[in-house]
Amino acid sequence: MLMDRRKKPNVVPKVMSENEIISLLSDINPEEVNEARRASMVPLYDTIFFEGEPGGAIIRDVNGVEYLDCTSQAWTLNVGSSNPDVIYGAYVQASRLNHVRYGYPTIPRIKLLNKLAKIAPGDLKKVCLNTQGGSYAIEAAMKLAMINKPGSSLFVTFLRSYQGSTLATIGASAFIREGIRFPGFGLDHFMKAPYPYCYRCAYGEEGPDQCNNECLVTLEQLVDRGVNVPVTGMIVEPMQGPGGQVPAPKKFLEGLRRICDERKIVLIFDEAQTGFGRIGKWFAAEYYGVMPDVICFTKALGGGFPIGGILASKKLRQTFLTPGEEHSTFGSNPVSFAAACVTLELIERLNLMKNAEEQGKYFTKRIKEEFMPKYPIIGDIRGPGLFIGMEMVKDRKTKEPASAEANTIVGEATKRRVIFDLSMTDTTSKGELVRNVVKFKPPLVITREQVDHALDVLDESIKAVTKK
Ligand SMILES: Cc1ncc(COP(=O)(O)O)c(C=O)c1O
Repeated sequence: MLMDRRKKPNVVPKVMSENEIISLLSDINPEEVNEARRASMVPLYDTIFFEGEPGGAIIRDVNGVEYLDCTSQAWTLNVGSSNPDVIYGAYVQASRLNHVRYGYPTIPRIKLLNKLAKIAPGDLKKVCLNTQGGSYAIEAAMKLAMINKPGSSLFVTFLRSYQGSTLATIGASAFIREGIRFPGFGLDHFMKAPYPYCYRCAYGEEGPDQCNNECLVTLEQLVDRGVNVPVTGMIVEPMQGPGGQVPAPKKFLEGLRRICDERKIVLIFDEAQTGFGRIGKWFAAEYYGVMPDVICFTKALGGGFPIGGILASKKLRQTFLTPGEEHSTFGSNPVSFAAACVTLELIERLNLMKNAEEQGKYFTKRIKEEFMPKYPIIGDIRGPGLFIGMEMVKDRKTKEPASAEANTIVGEATKRRVIFDLSMTDTTSKGELVRNVVKFKPPLVITREQVDHALDVLDESIKAVTKK
């Protein structure tokens, strides 16, 4: 049968009218909101967002109040919100076929597999996709590691790490413990090791150029003598995100590579936040020139649609996952894959990696040169690209975390309609969690004028807090 595969979509609702559907998705009254708040089993923030500037960094709430979004909504909107090309790609695919079961290839899935294999660093050319997200990707990497090291199921993860919110990834994570009520679940599969936090080196060293790799020495001792079973894999964020926006020194990652090579441990990079242009490269592996065996990715790839997956080295003995080991009902959604295909094109065509690098450098430089001399509350500023953390301290010498102040600064900025986020760290000797790192991680499409505006608002917000 002849078919025109290039036919333009023209979707017209059949049962409801267009107006009915628009009204269903647009009209809301306060009583509905209250009812939903009572029904919801998870907390809901106060602001109800409604729309974004297509392909930009501005978002508006239901009342039309406009915000400059410096969070990219959990790192997903590298190409801006509701990017018109991404939305059109998703619309074309959704109008044809909006879902298939996991095993079926679709045109977007085929194109995406090929494109990801092409941009993958080194020999990480084997790809496994899902449309559920990062936790699922981490678990796929764990499965692959266990297949490659049969009979073992122990993973090294790192202090202040975050790997997700499924039961296995909660066990893998080290920084969220408060408010979690699954005591001990899965923890026998994870051993936590120190992650270098050079601004607050736990070993009292002055920085990566001076130190003797104490983090690695401890890690080697833990792997060789801390357990009496072989270690299967090591899961590491090459730049820690939720745990303080802390990029690892290159020599730490090189050390992990050596330790894993010597013991045939599968090295897994969690690139949930660093992937797809944010740090000026496709992946942190490429940025550092250190190749893991597996990269986990998610977030920005979908341009706002759910997605995740792993890239694996062709050198692994096994890179095949059986249908029993890896499949799920919603794991292969072609609409997400279509959105991802377009997103990757846009990152290249709009030169977003270069923009991330340039705007990031500019932001960091102004904080260093203009803000740090006048605001002693800023203890440290860390990049690279648009993966920026600004650590707030009560005193630069003692480095006592200024978490209440950081929180108020973010609140002041929100009042001025610029949204920043806070990162959690365990900056105290007791390992208590504090939120004293203000994060700047806007869509990569952000313009110089918008960066300047974000800085102006930050300036006013810090002034408002430090003056009190
Ligand atoms: C570093 C890191 N890894 C894994 C995840 C888990 O991803 P998801 O929330 O999509 O399951 C996240 C999510 O924030 C993350 O930041």
